[in-house]
Amino acid sequence: MSNELQNIKNRFGIIGNFPALNRALEKSIQVAPTDISVLVIGESGVGKEFIPKIIHSESKRKHQPYIVVNCGAIPEGTIDSELFGHEKGAFTGATATRKGYFEVADGGTIFLDEVGELPLQTQVRLLRVLESGEFMKVGSSQVQKTNVRIVAATNVNMMKAIHDGRFREDLYYRLNTVQIDMPPLRERKGDIHLLFRKFAIDFAEKYRMPELELEQSAVHYIENYSFPGNIRQLRNLVEQMTVVERNRNITAEKLAEYIPMETHLPMVVNSQNTPKQNDFGSEREIMYKILFDMRNDINDLKSLTSELIKNRGTADLSNHEKNLINRIYTPETQPQVNPGSLVYFDNHNDAPVVQNPTIISTPDDSYEDIEDIEIEENRPESLSLQNNEKDLIIKALEKHKGRRNRAADELGISQRTLYRKIKQYNLED
Ligand SMILES: Nc1ncnc2c1ncn2[C@@H]1O[C@H](COP(=O)(O)OP(=O)(O)O)[C@@H](O)[C@H]1O
Ligand SMILES: [Mg+2]
Repeated sequence: MSNELQNIKNRFGIIGNFPALNRALEKSIQVAPTDISVLVIGESGVGKEFIPKIIHSESKRKHQPYIVVNCGAIPEGTIDSELFGHEKGAFTGATATRKGYFEVADGGTIFLDEVGELPLQTQVRLLRVLESGEFMKVGSSQVQKTNVRIVAATNVNMMKAIHDGRFREDLYYRLNTVQIDMPPLRERKGDIHLLFRKFAIDFAEKYRMPELELEQSAVHYIENYSFPGNIRQLRNLVEQMTVVERNRNITAEKLAEYIPMETHLPMVVNSQNTPKQNDFGSEREIMYKILFDMRNDINDLKSLTSELIKNRGTADLSNHEKNLINRIYTPETQPQVNPGSLVYFDNHNDAPVVQNPTIISTPDDSYEDIEDIEIEENRPESLSLQNNEKDLIIKALEKHKGRRNRAADELGISQRTLYRKIKQYNLED
């Protein structure tokens, strides 16, 4: 290991020797002297926050400001003003001109944590400042310049966010000039015991207790635990056990009381770090898979009924059978599984894995999408149906002078569905 890497680890208290961790740290050291934007990707609790700190401290900007912005924690209504400042009178309550972080951090580094949570309108401003160094305060038309280095981090699946229209693709590529991946703890088995010992020492000191020690069975147990909350979870586990456990020799049985093997949910939750949805990425993934399988089963059944109908016609079907078929092909109010693309990060691969169509929709969306899942057949009438639908939408929009809410009412569909149809038929403007 290079001296430089060891120095960084010592300086920041970073424990571990796993190759992918070393690579991430080395990459940070390498890109630090440049102004290149860096995107740090990794699950919650893997230590992403070390990366921007290393980059800043190893850059020529180190004596200038370093500002951390948690994009997920700032309300949508105030985030533009927080980042870019505002003019006096820009909105109710703006009693004085205020500088934003991009102005304050001029010459320094901004760490945009949870960047995937940025509202779209803020993404536009961010893209501009990244591309030209220009921004405007909220409520001002005066262009200002700033020179800020951006490091961003995310634990959400950016490809899916882009696919769902929640994140701008151009901004993603701009932020992601260099990508640094932080490996999850479960892949760093060899580091788990090292980290446990470090935290045991830290908390023994903090609470003036003797250090915890793991018995051999416990080492084996903890190394095979999945740690959905990663290092943050391990740290909280050691803190809690340091305080609660009388016996300093921890057995596998004892550990199992805190982190049972059967469940993948974090058992130990720091009250200040209540897990958000994102912490349960793996659970969600499993759910998606189940839904995906279910959808396939449903489609198979539909194919089968459709085949049967095609071959036999509907003449000799009983009423009950007809009812059943109607029910299958008639929209329900239950949430449905829609086509779309599930993109998730396979932990064993660097690249995102694109799974076959699966996203969960709200009941609102499900209405029309059932048609989309239907077995693709060359049915000429479906084309004319589409044309009719398109005509109807155009007429309704004309009648209501482009007011979508009224047009939707008239058509008897939700506004959201109308928006989708407008997009689908390219009817914008
Ligand atoms: N390799 C490591 N060595 C020591 N502590 C670590 C390491 N990685 C993470 N931590 C600790 O784990 C906690 C979570 O790290 P953090 O950077 O906040 O995670 P993330 O931002 O990825 O959610 C912090 O207390 C951090 O100091
Ligand atoms: Mg963090």
